[in-house]
Amino acid sequence: MIAPSILSADFARLAEEAAAVARGEGRPGSDWLHVDVMDGHFVPNLTLGLPVVRSLLAATDIPLDCHLMIEDPDRWAVGYAEAGAHNVTVHVEAAADPVRLAKDIRAAGARAGLSIKPGTPLEPYLDVLRHYDTLLVMSVEPGFGGQSFIPDVLDKVRTARRLVDTGHLKLLVEIDGGINADTIAAAAEAGVDCFVAGSAVYDADDPGRAVERLRQAALAAGHRSEWTAADADGTSSP
Ligand code: DX5
Ligand code: ZN
Repeated sequence: MIAPSILSADFARLAEEAAAVARGEGRPGSDWLHVDVMDGHFVPNLTLGLPVVRSLLAATDIPLDCHLMIEDPDRWAVGYAEAGAHNVTVHVEAAADPVRLAKDIRAAGARAGLSIKPGTPLEPYLDVLRHYDTLLVMSVEPGFGGQSFIPDVLDKVRTARRLVDTGHLKLLVEIDGGINADTIAAAAEAGVDCFVAGSAVYDADDPGRAVERLRQAALAAGHRSEWTAADADGTSSP
């Protein structure tokens, strides 16, 4: 799955930028559209919030993948699920009660995602992750697009992949940060299901074509699990 991040898009033309990566003639299009919500506190950058997400939901059919880089997600995350986001991801470093939060997000009709920063280990959260539908492994420090991929995080991807493949966890493994034509193969080999890409898509002359190129590179290098492929249309649950 490919999830372009609109952080690198033109914020004055979001509907057009979403359309540029949607299904088109001969193109399956993006699986999810990744929306980076930053509050200027959890990360040193400020982007957009629920009003913009609501407008995007009305402007595109691509399922929205909301990545909340905010303090106090226990208070704010459910609103994104209620609005109609497909997947709502919170940071484990910010959540006070991540198990309860996952239940609340799911009860509001979305998938629940848990994100971990590059320096955050996976092991302490394995029990918590049983309540989540996606694990978002950050491969840059959250806050800005266009940073370089941190390959060390692939050990966490391999661990998560093994736990999913052996039935101990049931979730999508997603990666975010520095994914481009040079890095996607290594991430795919490590076992990523869903690739977020901001600058590699929206800095390209043809964002729609960039999405398909990334998908081909990931498929050539990586694994493919059946339920992930079925999941991509946003109609089935894991
Ligand atoms: C960074 C964001 C990413 C960002 C990725 O904090 O979470 O989603 O848009 O941008 P690239 O793909 O350019 O690294
Ligand atoms: Zn993100």
